[in-house]
Amino acid sequence: MVELGATKQFSPNWGSFPSTASMVAIKMRLLYRNLLLMATITNRQLFLQHLAQTSEKPIGIEVASAQGVYIYDVHGKAFMDMIAGFSVCNIGHSHPAVIKAINEQVEKYMHVIVYGEFVQAPQVQYAKYLTSFLPDALQSVYFTNSGAEATEGAMKLAKRVTGRTKIVAFEGAYHGSTQGALSVMGDEYFKNAFRPLLPDILHLRYNNFEDIELIDDTVACVLVELVQAETGITPAHKEWVAALKKKCESLCALLIVDEIQSGFGRTGTLFAFEQYDITPDVLLVGKALGGGLPLGAFISSTKMMSTLTENPVLGHITTFGGNPVSCAAGNAALTVLHHSGWIESVKEKENCLITHLHHPAILHRNHFGLWMSLQFESAALTKKIAAACIENGIITDWFLFAEDKIRIAPPLSISIDELMIAIEKMITSIHQAIGE
Ligand SMILES: Cc1ncc(COP(=O)(O)O)c(C=O)c1O
Repeated sequence: MVELGATKQFSPNWGSFPSTASMVAIKMRLLYRNLLLMATITNRQLFLQHLAQTSEKPIGIEVASAQGVYIYDVHGKAFMDMIAGFSVCNIGHSHPAVIKAINEQVEKYMHVIVYGEFVQAPQVQYAKYLTSFLPDALQSVYFTNSGAEATEGAMKLAKRVTGRTKIVAFEGAYHGSTQGALSVMGDEYFKNAFRPLLPDILHLRYNNFEDIELIDDTVACVLVELVQAETGITPAHKEWVAALKKKCESLCALLIVDEIQSGFGRTGTLFAFEQYDITPDVLLVGKALGGGLPLGAFISSTKMMSTLTENPVLGHITTFGGNPVSCAAGNAALTVLHHSGWIESVKEKENCLITHLHHPAILHRNHFGLWMSLQFESAALTKKIAAACIENGIITDWFLFAEDKIRIAPPLSISIDELMIAIEKMITSIHQAIGE
């Protein structure tokens, strides 16, 4: 029993109540403890305690702000972002035109209803602007939250359009991490723990002509990246893509091209498919699409897209897809990208990397536009180099399916001078990591 008026240690004895005085004391003690915790627990500790962790060793930079090609940590250290938030920040961080568009939209309205019901100017205007860069067969945009959701929507669309179920994807492919997108991923290690996944998926070898013959009239769609990102920048051969397109056409199967990472100028044209002289039946976009805010989309002809409107109605449902603030940001970012000349500068910057980024420890380089992988003798060495780069103020990373390769994908807005500084620091980091 708690004695009335006594300031005793509170223990949950639900049969009696502490006095007002002891309640005050308890509250004071709790307040003091919380203040103490707030004063001593850092955001880094809270990050580890309360945020779901995705790996044992996150990069862990504590971000204070980001501007252009730089990310600043809470200690004031500047890092050059050589991966552009995984190909999201193609026009650099915090572009004033994007911030202005976001602010203006936030002042008007944010989320109002699920996707597809109300006429929302930012969605309409962005879809109109985006499709002005696309062929006639790609004029209907279904906005989603993310790249993975775009993959999911496109696979559902292909099933509706063709009435078939089989989906063809490729070894080494990455299309997202949700269960449908995971089913088409071309890597067993990342998939196996989550089986059973979608049935009726056929994985073929990338760039292999013989395997194209395995595509038959049970196939709803072929899902392909024209430049496989996560194997370390592996471009498709032009003739192979032409053969794939021809095969799909002959069987009335849809060719779905995933430009979620390659899109928005990364390869030197707004979309990589422009360099392959093909028109996809469905185009997947994401990452840079939202100008730094979450947004994805699958894009097809209006006729194809209409199959999602009936039997069942609402063939794909998304609450936040096409969020008006994300669309306003994306529209502003694409406007900047289009008028900046940065896409046109990609070739020169790619050449700058090719010419200056050398070291005997680099075994192989793959590149396509302002997008490069550097291969080293082991994953352990690559991780050591990436860690040295971070020490030297350069943010890099490896690839999901190629841990022995360093990823280089800076904002397209990076200047040649900035690129030269980054190259110098990366070479220094390689020297340091191998103990030279
Ligand atoms: C080629 C490709 N497709 C799809 C996705 C999935 O996009 P998200 O992470 O927005 O779901 C990614 C993400 O890295 C990607 O690189």
